[in-house]
Amino acid sequence: MKKQYIAGNWKMNLTLDEARDIARKLCDGIADAETVDIGVFPPFVYLKDVCDILSDSKVFVGAQNMNMEQHGAFTGEVSGGMLKDIGCTHVIIGHSERRTIYKETDSEINSKLKAALLNDLQPILCVGESQDERDADKTREVVEKQLSGGLLDLKPEQVEGLTIAYEPVWAIGTGKTATPEQANEVHAFIRNTLRSKYGDDTAQSIRIQYGGSVNAGNAKELLGQPEIDGALVGGASLDPNSFLDIVSKAASFS
Ligand code: PGA
Repeated sequence: MKKQYIAGNWKMNLTLDEARDIARKLCDGIADAETVDIGVFPPFVYLKDVCDILSDSKVFVGAQNMNMEQHGAFTGEVSGGMLKDIGCTHVIIGHSERRTIYKETDSEINSKLKAALLNDLQPILCVGESQDERDADKTREVVEKQLSGGLLDLKPEQVEGLTIAYEPVWAIGTGKTATPEQANEVHAFIRNTLRSKYGDDTAQSIRIQYGGSVNAGNAKELLGQPEIDGALVGGASLDPNSFLDIVSKAASFS
């Protein structure tokens, strides 16, 4: 069994005091960090504070997005080197909110992924279909395109140990979760796609998280599926008790 990986995406939420408070509670409450990888992804402006609080813990800290360039005249943007400089080790790339609201393309996501790797940041690449795409039976086609585009030109050794989050867009923040069987089926498809591109060993080294309305109540069933290696948690990660509860559910499968 792979070590499960539970990541909390705080999105554009919390005050600085609240962010610090959650970080401290995680620092005190994490007993399962040996068996589960745990990461939090605060808003950019809270990253340094959260990195400082969690620096002696085993909890990873990452950004929710980054720019593909190293530096220069890109007003309002943040580079991978800057994230690394303040102590971040991880980054989310291609979240569906970036794809849909900010129109990020697979090609931009691919450039960001390469920039993350260049800066020694460990990325979570997000993929997932919309409700309309699922209704039109296009889930596999969409996920396959996002994977091929996102991973374009990456060598097997760069893909080794990567994390992919399967997040059906219709399940994000809606309270509508994919059934464990529905999620597992897409995860198996993703694993097979990776296997045919990079071989079995590399495909097995990649953790595939499920994301979309994961909470303490449904985590056990989802994480118990053979192809689900963790979760990317939005809303429920804002409550440290719920998040810790999800982590402890994951510990039983690591
Ligand atoms: P949610 O968000 O858990 O609030 O549905 C998940 C995500 O967007 O990563």
